[in-house]
Amino acid sequence: MSIETVHGREMIVHFDGERCVHTRHCVLDRPDVFVPNTPGEWIHPDRATPAELLEIAHNCPSGAIRCTSADGALIEAAPLVNTVRVRENGPLAFRAPLTIDGHDAGYRATLCRCGASARKPYCDGAHAAAGFSASGEPAAAESTPLAQRNGALTVEPIRDGPLHVSGNLELIAGTGRTINRVVECWLCRCGQSGKKPYCDGTHKRVNFRSS
Ligand code: SF4
Ligand code: FES
Repeated sequence: MSIETVHGREMIVHFDGERCVHTRHCVLDRPDVFVPNTPGEWIHPDRATPAELLEIAHNCPSGAIRCTSADGALIEAAPLVNTVRVRENGPLAFRAPLTIDGHDAGYRATLCRCGASARKPYCDGAHAAAGFSASGEPAAAESTPLAQRNGALTVEPIRDGPLHVSGNLELIAGTGRTINRVVECWLCRCGQSGKKPYCDGTHKRVNFRSS
């Protein structure tokens, strides 16, 4: 699916349907701006201020919604702290200046950790139908505060293996607990690790195929 681009007077909204994981923050927070299941245009940028549109974008965990000003300047700000939130029975939700599989991926992305997505490394919601069961409250590891908490974050999906993540990153449980602070880690995406969210090598035993 191509990215929908909708021009308002001051702002441009980009919507990438393949990234959307249907958390519905957009349609619940601003049902006047995002009006699904209607004929014709369903995104109405001029019904919100630029600041409000930016807030909608920031609350979109998948990065499906991105906003720029009409003059082309990028006005979404990078987060001050790079994070990945471990979603209960669901994906890994990253917030950071992301490069994923060698491509600029913006500041937000939800990546598959159940192994069932047809759009790996991105989540496509398949965890629900697959009955994926994994805690959003993993145990915390011993860690110390990072010297720097932001900056570029690279996610390299290893073929038939985990997500190799490089850069400053804080791992966060569903309730907001910090469970680790790292500059490099390998996160399970086969759904079978015994020490989720980290890879423990089980992908080899279960013959995980990433494509
Ligand atoms: S992932 Fe983003 S675009 Fe999709 S429903 Fe949620 S907030 Fe809306
Ligand atoms: S990717 Fe799941 S155990 Fe390695």
